[in-house]
Amino acid sequence: SNAYRLAVIPGDGIGKEVVPEGLRVLEAVSTKFGCVLNVDHFEFASCDYFQKHGQMMPDDWKTRIGGHDAIFFGAVGWPETVPDHVSLWGSLIQFRREFDQYVNLRPVRLMPGVPTPLANRKPGDIDFFVVRENTEGEYSSIGGRMFTNTEREVVIQETVMTRVGVDRVLRYAFELARRRGKHLTSATKSNGISITMPYWDERVEEISQGYPDVKWDKYHIDILTAHFVQHPDWFDVVVASNLFGDILSDLGPACTGTIGIAPAGNINPERKFPSLFEPVHGSAPDIAGQGIANPVGQIWSAALMLDHLGETAAAAGVVQAIEEVLSRPEYRTRDLGGSAGTADCGKAIADAILG
Ligand code: NAD
Ligand code: IPM
Ligand code: MN
Repeated sequence: SNAYRLAVIPGDGIGKEVVPEGLRVLEAVSTKFGCVLNVDHFEFASCDYFQKHGQMMPDDWKTRIGGHDAIFFGAVGWPETVPDHVSLWGSLIQFRREFDQYVNLRPVRLMPGVPTPLANRKPGDIDFFVVRENTEGEYSSIGGRMFTNTEREVVIQETVMTRVGVDRVLRYAFELARRRGKHLTSATKSNGISITMPYWDERVEEISQGYPDVKWDKYHIDILTAHFVQHPDWFDVVVASNLFGDILSDLGPACTGTIGIAPAGNINPERKFPSLFEPVHGSAPDIAGQGIANPVGQIWSAALMLDHLGETAAAAGVVQAIEEVLSRPEYRTRDLGGSAGTADCGKAIADAILG
């Protein structure tokens, strides 16, 4: 069927400004492409909710949104009122882990006409995906503090890699590379991180045997960040652990002009649970409430969501509308050197879809 139930969660800060633009574009999509989007709005997973209820989400959050076809999410975090680790571990990180969204798919693409900080780069030179492991690795709750507030104080946080967890994200990345440019790059640090990272490399080696048609290489994360800036044209699919993928997926979009356009799909490929679509950026407290945030990361995330739902024509239509609008300086927000507001840009994209 072409009817879908969406759980919409704006969260905090500019999440509340860019999500409405995403919905505006989705409305245009339903008019133009004839899919039916039934939207349920939720106020939890925000620091406002925390201030009222003492927790980020109701106890039954899983049943409230677990039956939806997808979750359309803004951003969480308002460190002035709730410490970041409390707000994020109480919401977004729970979604990723409890809904087994083990792939965080983050496209990086230089759009036509968009100014890039890299000299002499044109669209096509920067066009790759970061595939970030999203449920384990460096983001673990295993560890603790000892001898708190003494000179002997010790803090430990373990990195966890499981065979199942590593293999499944690697397979997803190899499959994606097979459908694209047949090239995969693995981010590692097996020279310094001497137990988990050599294991990661071993699994890449092993899984690669199933993909003889995909060429692959690996770089330590330190030089890989340099290559992102100096040779972004080298990359097709970049697979990385949770923390390395987090870092690469802000750096990549910065090379394409701004993190404000970058989208993410937190995906449960087996579709046992809903997947979650959100911009890569956060709640941007420094610009929140001014109507100047770039809505493109949220809108491009809507395109990833449509793609995931099987609405491939609609997804392509959204991306094309984004490209059309970004090529025109008058619709660019401040992070791209323009002076358009959030809604100006969002409306222009919705209008471009309606033709
Ligand atoms: P951030 O992404 O919110 O902001 C970083 C910088 O980029 C800021 O200067 C901001 O103004 C700018 N920026 C971000 N998005 C933009 C947009 N759409 N248009 C224009 N400019 C934009 O990262 P941060 O400052 O490290 O974190 C702020 C809060 O957001 C923290 O609470 C953090 O934990 C949270 N956070 C949440 C998510 C998420 O929900 N997925 C992601 C990252 C950070
Ligand atoms: C992201 C964010 C989150 C992460 C934070 C807010 C916990 O930076 O989605 O990239 O590190 O995964
Ligand atoms: Mn991040």
